[in-house]
Amino acid sequence: MKLIDGKAVSDQVKKEIAAEVAKMLAEGKRAPHLAAVLVGHDGGSETYVANKIKACEVCGFKSSLIRYESDVTEEELLSCIDKLNNDDTVDGFIVQLPLPKHIDEQKIVEAIDYRKDVDGFHPVNVGRACIGLPSFLSATPAGILELIKRYEIPTAGKHVVIIGRSNIVGKPLANLLMRKDYPGNATVTVVHSYSTDIKEQCLKADIIVCALGRPHFLTADMVKEGATVIDVGTTRVPSTETKSGFKLTGDVKFDEVAPNCTFITPVPGGVGPMTIVSLMKNTLLAGSKAIY
Ligand code: GUN
Repeated sequence: MKLIDGKAVSDQVKKEIAAEVAKMLAEGKRAPHLAAVLVGHDGGSETYVANKIKACEVCGFKSSLIRYESDVTEEELLSCIDKLNNDDTVDGFIVQLPLPKHIDEQKIVEAIDYRKDVDGFHPVNVGRACIGLPSFLSATPAGILELIKRYEIPTAGKHVVIIGRSNIVGKPLANLLMRKDYPGNATVTVVHSYSTDIKEQCLKADIIVCALGRPHFLTADMVKEGATVIDVGTTRVPSTETKSGFKLTGDVKFDEVAPNCTFITPVPGGVGPMTIVSLMKNTLLAGSKAIY
């Protein structure tokens, strides 16, 4: 069994990005600039955004944090997006989700200029990615592809089972793994809450991607000997063992599944660190005006 070390890969990719930024500066260009819009004070969102800003520093990017209280109106937020869309000093920006209930998230996402949509959530980017055109890829699927690539895990002709059909993980990942490229050329099955044969499908899989957000869902009796298991779950489970009072828990019962695997990602330290790195890669693309 080989552990997929997402932390080590993410550190390496950040170094590679920093080297690209140094080259840009040497050529007289400016560093890429990422702006993050954060509404309210949700603990999870605060941590995610703080980590994104920290990663920008490591990569040599400029970053800006724009904060609003949770009673911000949709109009105010749309006006902020309009400003960022038209600000030539900002290459890319994100609006951290979830947003308060009185704000229409889809309307906010669609208001972002797709050329600055480094989250890859805008329908133009989703559609382009689906048919293999240059686009900003959504962070988690892109991070998973990067791990598969760096560990040289074969995908051509392999049977991949993805558990979960979300718009930001399951669906885009299924598309990417079927494209005519590496990583890709896989036979992909997506199972979800209405599937009646999840265990049977998983037992046929060479690669299982668990992205349903249910702690310890995938057990050893669902995994074929020698399979690769990618755990996207990061549920915050209350814990007395940590200072923060919670523990990030994956969708895989790691201790019993790991011994049967060829490769497996841990939680934390697997897919998680890669998602931020994917955002950094998208910001580098935005800074180079590679998506237009
Ligand atoms: N909330 C949870 N994950 C994400 C993400 O990748 N991007 C944004 N904007 N919000 C999130």
